[in-house]
Amino acid sequence: MNKLLDAREKINKADEELAKHFCERMAAVKEVAEYKAEHALPILDASREEEIIKNASNRFENSDIKAHYINFVKSNMSISRSYQAELYPAAVSGIIYDTESVKRLHVNLDEDSYDVIVGCGALEFSDKYFNLNRRVLILTDSRVPIKYADSVAKKCASPFIYIIEQGEQSKNLANFEAILNFMAKNRFTRSDCVVAVGGGVVGDLAGFVASSYMRGVDFYNIPTTLLSQVDSSIGGKVAIDLGGYKNIVGAFYQPKCVIVDPELLLTLNIRQVRAGLAESLKMATTSDAELFAIFESGEFLNDIEEVILRSLLIKKGIVERDVHESGERKILNFGHTVGHAIESSSDLLHGECVALGMLYMCTEQIKNRLIPILDEIGLPSGARLDADELYKFILRDKKASGENITVTYVNEIGKAELRKMPIEKIKDYL
Ligand SMILES: NC(=O)c1ccc[n+]([C@@H]2O[C@H](COP(=O)([O-])OP(=O)(O)OC[C@H]3O[C@@H](n4cnc5c(N)ncnc54)[C@H](O)[C@@H]3O)[C@@H](O)[C@H]2O)c1
Repeated sequence: MNKLLDAREKINKADEELAKHFCERMAAVKEVAEYKAEHALPILDASREEEIIKNASNRFENSDIKAHYINFVKSNMSISRSYQAELYPAAVSGIIYDTESVKRLHVNLDEDSYDVIVGCGALEFSDKYFNLNRRVLILTDSRVPIKYADSVAKKCASPFIYIIEQGEQSKNLANFEAILNFMAKNRFTRSDCVVAVGGGVVGDLAGFVASSYMRGVDFYNIPTTLLSQVDSSIGGKVAIDLGGYKNIVGAFYQPKCVIVDPELLLTLNIRQVRAGLAESLKMATTSDAELFAIFESGEFLNDIEEVILRSLLIKKGIVERDVHESGERKILNFGHTVGHAIESSSDLLHGECVALGMLYMCTEQIKNRLIPILDEIGLPSGARLDADELYKFILRDKKASGENITVTYVNEIGKAELRKMPIEKIKDYL
């Protein structure tokens, strides 16, 4: 009996000590939560949790309570996460609110980190988010309403608007050279900057110019198509086309800040809006069953900002985990292998081709769920395509990347897998 009482007394004492340490721990957890909220970082930091578990495991090398201690540490971390979520609910989603209508997503890439500002009317605040108090090259194209570039120019100390012809053919070496010449002639220095105001063509070209001029000047991006808002706005891929190959010369060069203003889409033609939705649907299919449900419910056009935000969160997460596309980021190529082949052999827009391309790389069941969504959006869902022709184009495309091909395949909505295979194997999918 005494033995039991003694042991319980020891437990009471240990609990008292633990309570003190628990308070200390939670105070530190609160400080971490404050930091994460300020920097719009997500609550879960998987690598930090791994490190804590490793430390815990080292503390009890040969003990029979090691596994129990690790469970104890894990439940501590789970309690800490709930506490942080209670303190800063916005940190759970990775979105913080600058104002009621303007949100900020922080893309966390260490020293290359940047914010994406999302909100109707956000264009008006370009000088709040970009440092425009210097020479600013504003690149736009002939079909993007000039009022968007003018709105930025008005806020710059020394603006230079440069307009390229609209269309993919402008993403070329001649324009790249001409813009660099223009900057040199106008005495741009290393501390000046480039702002893209346009779709993916303008963004890719402007980013590549910024990455090269004097070994890199600050780059800001204001994407004006839905496709560029949901896709090319995050990730730092900048490029031009050469010799018939798309994006074959380029770099990874992250912007300093991005403004995504859904109001700019009001002037975009509906076919381009649909093409952008295809990229967003692609991300939903590979990575976010909830966004897929929004597409399935037909609600996507009533809340385009929600679709944009959710797509950006998917892209942000993937890019943060695999910035140089050595693994997971490849899943964003879902629909692209066949899509690119269709693009080379038709007049369809990139997004329209991705829409068709997805149908080749998923189960029959998922295909049957995708088709009604594509029909509802107004995207093609059933072009008759010749398998031999497609294979020829895939082969040509692959000249740039070797004997094997990696495709993204979707077995379950919200989850994708990468399948690497010899190039002839792709015929099985066509
Ligand atoms: N860097 C990346 O991560 C990435 C990702 C996807 C695509 N891309 C690239 O993006 C390009 C395609 O981008 P896109 O679809 O935006 O095409 P785009 O830039 O050619 O724009 C499409 C058309 O819309 C017009 N336009 C743009 N904004 C407008 C607006 N607000 N109002 C009216 N008209 C407007 C343009 O002048 C153009 O005619 C391709 O070159 C592709 O390789 C890059």
